[in-house]
Amino acid sequence: MNELINLDDFERAALAKLPAGPRDYYAGGALDEITLRENRAAWSRWNLHYRVLRDVSGPDFGTELLGMSIDWPVIIAPTAFQCMAHPDGEVATGRAAADSGTAMVLSTLANKPLEQVAAAATRGLWFQLYVFRDRGVTRELIARVEAAGCRAIAVTVDAPMGGQRERDLRNDFAFPATLAATTLMAASARPANALAMDGAFMSYANAMFDPTLTWKDLEWICAQTRLPVLIKGVVRSDDALQAAGHGARGVIVSNHGGRQLDTAPPGAEVL
Ligand SMILES: Cc1cc2nc3c(=O)[nH]c(=O)nc-3n(C[C@H](O)[C@H](O)[C@H](O)COP(=O)(O)O)c2cc1C
Repeated sequence: MNELINLDDFERAALAKLPAGPRDYYAGGALDEITLRENRAAWSRWNLHYRVLRDVSGPDFGTELLGMSIDWPVIIAPTAFQCMAHPDGEVATGRAAADSGTAMVLSTLANKPLEQVAAAATRGLWFQLYVFRDRGVTRELIARVEAAGCRAIAVTVDAPMGGQRERDLRNDFAFPATLAATTLMAASARPANALAMDGAFMSYANAMFDPTLTWKDLEWICAQTRLPVLIKGVVRSDDALQAAGHGARGVIVSNHGGRQLDTAPPGAEVL
């Protein structure tokens, strides 16, 4: 694509095509959306303290991330339910990531099956894991992630329960009954987890995801896999140190895009 695109305009135009429910689900944050606004503002306050006289005739933005080589130092964050925006959903995102020379992280709550996304995301795929109360389901997911050729697992730890998203409450928002979290449903289609994800996502999340997680559980997760494990949702250096001490190979500094705990500090500031 060679046209010049202003990203704010592009985002506005893309969101305008969606009905209010999905649009606000994608664009909204928790409570008063203080963190949502601050996240963007904080990035725009960052200055680039550039260096000079370094021979930039052949710039190379490539880097290596946990053994994965990418052409530029950005990978795509996991976001749930992408088929509400486009029928190709996460497969299209994986293809776009690969075309641009980088990797993507696939959400536990993806609509497209993991294996299809892995086939599209040829420059690398990580899996974002929500830990289930039922550790059997968690183990099954991890095994499937390894078999599909994912390169790392990012355990999201900032969502022990669903954030209070007032736009969703006002819209009485529910995921369309025609869409399923396919990767997850395969693993959780067992009697103990037979609760269907009928659109009432927050009640599903609160019923299925484990709010009792502690650092000990991180050790358990690391012991289940040969893949590097990162934790996603860290905003403090003492927690980053704890993560390293309990087996994580990295942390993803994040407040879940302001969708979980409002007034959490912006990633750009705590980095
Ligand atoms: C629509 C939407 C859905 C998201 N779904 C997930 C998800 O399923 N799992 C997850 O770990 N993070 C999810 N996130 C959070 C993003 O991965 C990412 O952390 C956030 O958009 C960027 O904010 P940050 O800089 O605080 O990380 C979602 C974000 C959005 C906007």
